Amino acid sequence: MTQDKSQQQLQVDFQQMVDEFFTVQCRYQSAIREIQTKLEILDDEFQMRHKRNPIHHMQSRMKSIQSMMEKLARKNAQRNIASAVENLTDIAGIRVICSYLQDVYTVAELLTRQDDIHVLKVRDYIKQPKANGYRSLHLVVEIPVFLSEGRVMVPVEIQIRTIAMDFWASLEHSLRYKAPGNIPEEISEELLQTASDIAILDQRMQTIHDKVDALEGNE
Ligand code: GTP
Ligand code: MG
Repeated sequence: MTQDKSQQQLQVDFQQMVDEFFTVQCRYQSAIREIQTKLEILDDEFQMRHKRNPIHHMQSRMKSIQSMMEKLARKNAQRNIASAVENLTDIAGIRVICSYLQDVYTVAELLTRQDDIHVLKVRDYIKQPKANGYRSLHLVVEIPVFLSEGRVMVPVEIQIRTIAMDFWASLEHSLRYKAPGNIPEEISEELLQTASDIAILDQRMQTIHDKVDALEGNE
């Protein structure tokens, strides 16, 4: 009997959580759309001026309820949607994949100088790569979203990196997923080495780009 009741309560709690999730989902998805539009406009304008696109492609995602709750548990925070809104700044995420190293900083600068964007956090894992070799420029920004109830500031995590950094990060992520916490030291070393090889390639591609540009007198 009590078990039935607690099961019913669980179902009610779960339903409430799903309803709240849909309400906040709308805000975060609007914030993603706004930032993506800003980035598309910057990319188009850059194309017009310099005859090439600094942004190779973009991806976006909203965190699932499950990964929100897992992250809240790791942070020892309450596990509900209100707590997720309060404690997590990566519910909405955009990944911007750039052609060249310098484009990463150009895109970040052009976006964050816009006066409706409020920068909450910058982590430059390109200048200071993570111990495993991970490279990327991470920003957390807030953007106003206008809803019927008024203006709400919504945080969005933006990861900006080159095609080469993205290649490494996505393979490293899937390798880590395959063998969680179980990657032997020598393989980690090997991965670290590949990350620095890739960083050298990015530098070389940037140099080639700059030389070609000087020939054409483009930028
Ligand atoms: P999270 O709890 O993972 O969100 O970490 P954090 O809040 O300290 O932020 P951080 O900037 O370190 O990482 C945020 C996100 O960047 C992660 O969710 C991943 O998408 C990505 N990331 C960070 N480190 C790595 C890494 O070592 N490898 C890969 N593939 N991705 C990473
Ligand atoms: Mg995250």
